[in-house]
Amino acid sequence: MAPIKVTKICCIGAGYVGGPTCAVIALKCPHIKVTIVDLNQARVDAWNSPDFQLPIYEPGLDEVVRAARGRNLFFSTDVDKGIEEADLIFVSVNTPTKKSGVGAGFAADLNYVELATRRIATVANSSKIVVEKSTVPCRTAESMRTILEANSKPNCRFDILSNPEFLAEGTAIADLFKPDRVLIGSLQTQEGLDACAALAGVYGNWVPKDRILTVGLWSSELSKLAANAMLAQRISSINALSAICEATGANIDEVAHAVGYDSRIGPKFLKASVGFGGSCFQKDILNLVYLSESLHLPEVANYWRQVVDMNEYQKRRFSKRVVDTLFNTITGKRIAVLGFAFKADTGDTRESAAITLIKDFQSERAFVNIYDPQVPHDQIWADLAEASPLTPIDTIKKQVTICSSAMEACKNAEAVVIATEWKEFNEINWEEVYAHMNKPAFVFDGRLLVDEKKLTKIGFTVNTIGRPAQERV
Ligand code: UDX
Ligand code: ADP
Repeated sequence: MAPIKVTKICCIGAGYVGGPTCAVIALKCPHIKVTIVDLNQARVDAWNSPDFQLPIYEPGLDEVVRAARGRNLFFSTDVDKGIEEADLIFVSVNTPTKKSGVGAGFAADLNYVELATRRIATVANSSKIVVEKSTVPCRTAESMRTILEANSKPNCRFDILSNPEFLAEGTAIADLFKPDRVLIGSLQTQEGLDACAALAGVYGNWVPKDRILTVGLWSSELSKLAANAMLAQRISSINALSAICEATGANIDEVAHAVGYDSRIGPKFLKASVGFGGSCFQKDILNLVYLSESLHLPEVANYWRQVVDMNEYQKRRFSKRVVDTLFNTITGKRIAVLGFAFKADTGDTRESAAITLIKDFQSERAFVNIYDPQVPHDQIWADLAEASPLTPIDTIKKQVTICSSAMEACKNAEAVVIATEWKEFNEINWEEVYAHMNKPAFVFDGRLLVDEKKLTKIGFTVNTIGRPAQERV
């Protein structure tokens, strides 16, 4: 049989994963027409905006979209047309953690995946390769296959592939241009292997062959959860050690450096922080916990749950350190929180540690000034409202102010808390900040960002994750 030739791709879901991934496919494969569809009209309009005010902030993304949009890259709300035209469809919809029902708080909500899959079955008039791109629990491909096969028209066959995305936000474009690996899982039948070869051919336009790994469906799905769980575990391990450092006088940066020199461990992803956030780590580990429990493996479930528990502990420990240091009360005091995104170079706030910290400060009845260079103000209000569902937004707004610069946020504050490692925070004029703060002035560095010595010389008391407090000299 001749290899399947992919000429038209549809991506269902124009979010953080589908948008950048398929924009890069379009850029690198000018001979393939790529249509990204989404039900959310505002999102699609933003992708199509004449001045490239894209719905997500990602360095380099706007150049990619500028080069390909209108050439072979299209954004549309016409989901059915996108499905009908395509030879290959990526399903890249959201899979949040379930909020109610069986598995609430752990299992992934697969409603969006199922609806998209059913839509494909209803609309398709020709055979398609359907690629599961969203991070999903193991065996989802199996359910998708069952739904598609039960609803397909005669002469339509569906081959399901799993092709998890490993991009990290903030570096998505670089990750997509030069991925560590592309992973494709398929059934090990001839049809499955042919579909796998077709998708490998698409990536082969710019990814070296030895970076394209082909495995079974199950392995592919589990590998994505495993990779995220192991990355998060590294952060929880270093954060657990940071607590020991603070109590003993060791310095977590020095420990991480020494440990990372072991080539078996390696230096990356060992930065202690106020806690990991993002849409993936917590969700994927909880997914793994749920899977382990469903498989009657409670010890395995407990092992992974501990990674998330340690992360929660790290966030609480940090906000407690703020309260303890400010003489055991922050009631009526003003705290400046610098950074609201879950990490630098993204406007994404999902599971951001800043949300937990601010909620803690609010419940201590402190006033909070927030500054983030990228997160839209509406998003901050929405996150704070969601974090405190019983508090009316007007009450929240009496306690919280969103500022338009770091300097403005720090004015008249008792303490500055660094929650996100934005580069511009390296440029802060700390002498000026100090002059405008109430005294004694405190800095709490949750991202190992400031020069402690310089700040203590100015007069600050500095508390950094993984180091004992530095008093003014
Ligand atoms: C992660 C995975 O890296 C990526 O492969 C997967 O596809 C999606 O999930 P992402 O969530 O975008 O990507 O960001 P990542 O860079 O992994 O950071 C996650 C969180 O860990 C952030 O809050 C970050 O600040 C924190 N982190 C990361 C640390 O606290 N210390 C580190 O050393 C690294
Ligand atoms: P991710 O980080 O996984 O990309 P996002 O929430 O950023 O998740 O994006 C998922 C997108 O999928 C959203 O824009 C949502 O509107 C879209 N979506 C969800 N279900 C469907 C569907 N059935 N058809 C089309 N788009 C969908």
